[in-house]
Amino acid sequence: MIEIENVRLRYGAKEILKGVNLHVKKGETLVILGASGSGKSTLLKLIIGLLKPSEGIVRVDGKNISLMTEEELNKERRHMAMVFQYSALFDSMSVGDNVAFGLRMHTNMSEEEIKKVVDEKLHLVGLDGISDLMPANLSGGMKKRVSLARAITLNQDIILYDEPTAGLDPIRSTDISLLIKKMQNELHATSIVVTHDLKSANMVADRMAFLYEGSFLLIGTPGDLYDSSDKRIQQFMNGWPSNDAMKKGV
Ligand SMILES: Nc1ncnc2c1ncn2[C@@H]1O[C@H](COP(=O)(O)OP(=O)(O)O)[C@@H](O)[C@H]1O
Ligand SMILES: [Mg+2]
Repeated sequence: MIEIENVRLRYGAKEILKGVNLHVKKGETLVILGASGSGKSTLLKLIIGLLKPSEGIVRVDGKNISLMTEEELNKERRHMAMVFQYSALFDSMSVGDNVAFGLRMHTNMSEEEIKKVVDEKLHLVGLDGISDLMPANLSGGMKKRVSLARAITLNQDIILYDEPTAGLDPIRSTDISLLIKKMQNELHATSIVVTHDLKSANMVADRMAFLYEGSFLLIGTPGDLYDSSDKRIQQFMNGWPSNDAMKKGV
């Protein structure tokens, strides 16, 4: 479903991704783990075509994202949902208008039909009856739920989550992880979850991939990561302090 082959990405002289290979299968949830600055968000931006690789290929559904025109890309993006780290709701719009935004922009649905979809998606994320509230009246966890509802109005079959539990307390964080699982079960979506919240990663992952300074050190089952003898992976999984010696590797 998503294939990344030998991808390199440079910002000026700085190489952020240094030969990334990753295949995500239809219907699976892959968790990308890695320290801040390792290139996780950059990788998601390549998949939705916000960035183009300096080298290598990104394919979604067998189609090369880099070769698409802006118009083809916009069409392709309609079946991909991106849930950003910060909820990024429009503060001046009600919850209902926020969720309806994509439907108004990309479809010719009537207001009545739009309202039906908005209510259905808010129900899916466990937030019935809050359409008329403004984002300022919501808690952090509720905002994340609304942004998830907004992201999936077009019944996207690929969902990319960028640190979905960042900034939430452990209880809200578990709520969001359960919601991600619910999306898997009800929408059968193919998902990539970028996180450094290991508890959340364990709850949602079919497979995990560990990104380190721009390339994957290991892609495997959660058990493979926990059992890895690579010091850089052990350091992350156990939360050991940073240490320049660690960077030199195993
Ligand atoms: N637009 C940009 N221009 C230059 N450097 C950038 C840009 N965006 C991100 N970076 C750098 O790329 C690296 C990876 O960033 P990012 O993908 O956001 O990491 P992560 O999401 O893993 O924390 C960081 O060192 C960051 O400073
Ligand atoms: Mg990031």
